[in-house]
Amino acid sequence: MRAVRSEYMHWAKSQAPVTYALSSSEVPHFRLDRLPFAISDLELDGASYHRYPPLRQAIAEKEGVDPACVVMADGTSMANFLALAALIEPGDEVLVEFPVYEPLLAAARFLGAEVKRFERPGFALDPAAVERAMSPATKLIVITNLHNPSGAFASPEALAAVGALGPRVLVDEVYLDSGPRPGSAFHLGPNFVCTSSLTKVYGLSGLRCGWILAEPDLAERMWRLNEVMGVAQAHPAERLSCIALAHLDEIAAGREERLERNRALFNAFLAGRSDLECAPMESGITAFPRLLRGDPEALNALLRERFDTAIVPGRWFEMPDRFRVGIGQATEIVEDGLARLGAALDVLA
Ligand SMILES: Cc1ncc(COP(=O)(O)O)c(C=O)c1O
Repeated sequence: MRAVRSEYMHWAKSQAPVTYALSSSEVPHFRLDRLPFAISDLELDGASYHRYPPLRQAIAEKEGVDPACVVMADGTSMANFLALAALIEPGDEVLVEFPVYEPLLAAARFLGAEVKRFERPGFALDPAAVERAMSPATKLIVITNLHNPSGAFASPEALAAVGALGPRVLVDEVYLDSGPRPGSAFHLGPNFVCTSSLTKVYGLSGLRCGWILAEPDLAERMWRLNEVMGVAQAHPAERLSCIALAHLDEIAAGREERLERNRALFNAFLAGRSDLECAPMESGITAFPRLLRGDPEALNALLRERFDTAIVPGRWFEMPDRFRVGIGQATEIVEDGLARLGAALDVLA
């Protein structure tokens, strides 16, 4: 039997919560009682809302695309799976970035893809590196932008150069809205398929409001595929997602300033450590430093045991001498968490 699982997701979901969750790649959860709605706005109506048009329209408006290009899904997770399942035939060659968010790799392998990898030098998206790894059989190229785990931003120019190589390009954009950036790579050309959600940078992971942007024929294939999987999303969540999309600016208020403050704290922390190697953070919510002396697994165990703090050991991102740090939480939490990380590093040394 083919293994059907994501080892990383299983591990991540089974970790006990800690106060200083530098392991998190999200901003703080947004409280629903800050949104103006009444319980009657979440009416079930007893109807099955086929491709709930108000939500499809609201996502299309947010992304600046035709609603015919929008497929709704349970989070970016399901969006990625549906996109891959619609694009991959067993035996197809799929080129996946290294390192990568593991569920993307697990899904491609589960679908029977012949997975090959391309390097991201210094974690940047380098079209020449993608081209070197390509073969005439390459059907799909898989990228995260911003990159998980490093947080590196791929410019529209770099993405367009990858698009010009020919195969379809799947871009997971779940972190893209964490700063002022150009819109989705979907606008770069018809071979781009992009996924995202209201999860990571809006603090609304509980809604599971995810989507795929794809050319209408391909989008239709994904809708049909989802009829085999979940048929429809929970309708109150769809209604809440519409309300959230109408208030995205309020939901995101203060986020960029907080992320900038937290990145500055992380960069100051880095400057004081000779045991970590990492480029200063310029974008996003996560960084992926190399631990020059010691074992990131032992560091995480010590942080959890003695410091009520957690990181993600790099083995979950295919680079066991590194670890992922998330700076999306409230500034006090990030500041204290970094102090605790420093104390744990000192103990290990
Ligand atoms: C690159 C990437 N894609 C997708 C997800 C999952 O997103 P969602 O919560 O919207 O399913 C994550 C979560 O860590 C992620 O890092």
